[in-house]
Amino acid sequence: MAMKTKVFIARDNQIDAEDISVAANVIREGGLVAFPTETVYGLGGDAMDPSASRKIYKAKGRPSDNPLIVHIAEFSQLEAIVREVPENARLLAEKFWPGPLTMILYKNDYIPYETTGGLDTVAIRMPNHPVALALLRESDRLIAAPSANTSGRPSPTTAIHVWEDLQGKIDVILDGGEVGIGIESTIVDMTGDIPVILRPGFITQEMLSDVLGKVKMDPAMANENQDIPPKAPGMKYRHYAPKAELTLVEGELSKVVDKINTFVDEATAQGKKVGIIATEETKALYPNGQVVSIGSRSDETQVAHYLYQVLRQFDEMQVDLIYSESFACVGVGQAIMNRLLKAAGNKRIFVVSNCKL
Ligand code: TXA
Ligand code: MG
Repeated sequence: MAMKTKVFIARDNQIDAEDISVAANVIREGGLVAFPTETVYGLGGDAMDPSASRKIYKAKGRPSDNPLIVHIAEFSQLEAIVREVPENARLLAEKFWPGPLTMILYKNDYIPYETTGGLDTVAIRMPNHPVALALLRESDRLIAAPSANTSGRPSPTTAIHVWEDLQGKIDVILDGGEVGIGIESTIVDMTGDIPVILRPGFITQEMLSDVLGKVKMDPAMANENQDIPPKAPGMKYRHYAPKAELTLVEGELSKVVDKINTFVDEATAQGKKVGIIATEETKALYPNGQVVSIGSRSDETQVAHYLYQVLRQFDEMQVDLIYSESFACVGVGQAIMNRLLKAAGNKRIFVVSNCKL
């Protein structure tokens, strides 16, 4: 039977003390609370309570071998749940926490295997959002939280997205408005000699390298290595999927626009409704189709911010197909392309010039 989901709304980024205390009690009693972070909304439960973790998997419809991220409010909470804190991890925490960075470390016996999907490592992050931190402090618990979407849907960047996916399945939604960043945290595996990025995000490879020197990308992320299983179990699923089939078109921008226009005309002739993910610079160049701008090419943080919102928008418009422009694979662009490729189930087309000169 569906439960009644309560919604508490933040004013000036703060939730009323009374409402936070109700939400904190829900966490302590093993229930589920969705809350805003600076990246995306999380679906939180007590990280030490196996039954809370099971509830999270159930509410999301998520496979239980896909581990959760443990959220903390103090550095000492990290020391309490891992075997040891390597010097490199200490440096990253000093520089980037609270913030959009998740570190993978060897767990000790405190965190149950239900939370880590059976792994001996644990993912940990200190979020940089007043509501998330207030919930962590007031509940006095570590909070396991995946993104607060139904498994396979784009991650939620507003409380309305959470409501659409999880209403009736969770106890409380803390509504902090639109999140800032809009894509999930960077995940970096700190268990080996060289840190490895398992999921690119707002904290870029360059930023990590500035602190630590050599930092690698998980080779499973490269398109030619699709037979290598990714080290973050969640990255193997077709994630962030819009309902319509999405194709990424890559190459020189003017050729990309021409190609997308050709595809749109073909599909329209077959009676299909087609969506186009365009940018401020190109949106006027598409005469047909449902054109949505994802932001300006000169501001990749804006593109990241609108990405999931745009994918959900196309779900609402009930388009049959979506064609998307692509972005340079550097800086935050790495994270943008990673999410777009996942949403596309890796369907990508490269346009090359017909001119042989
Ligand atoms: O920004 C974020 O990280 C958001 C907010 C709510 O904090 N959370 C989030 O959680 O994106 P989720 O569950 O949607 O993604 C967690 C990812 C999954 O791909 C999972 O497989 C990976 O982290 N992960 C978790 N624990 C891991 C571990 N021990 N080793 C490798 N990957 C792990
Ligand atoms: Mg997720």
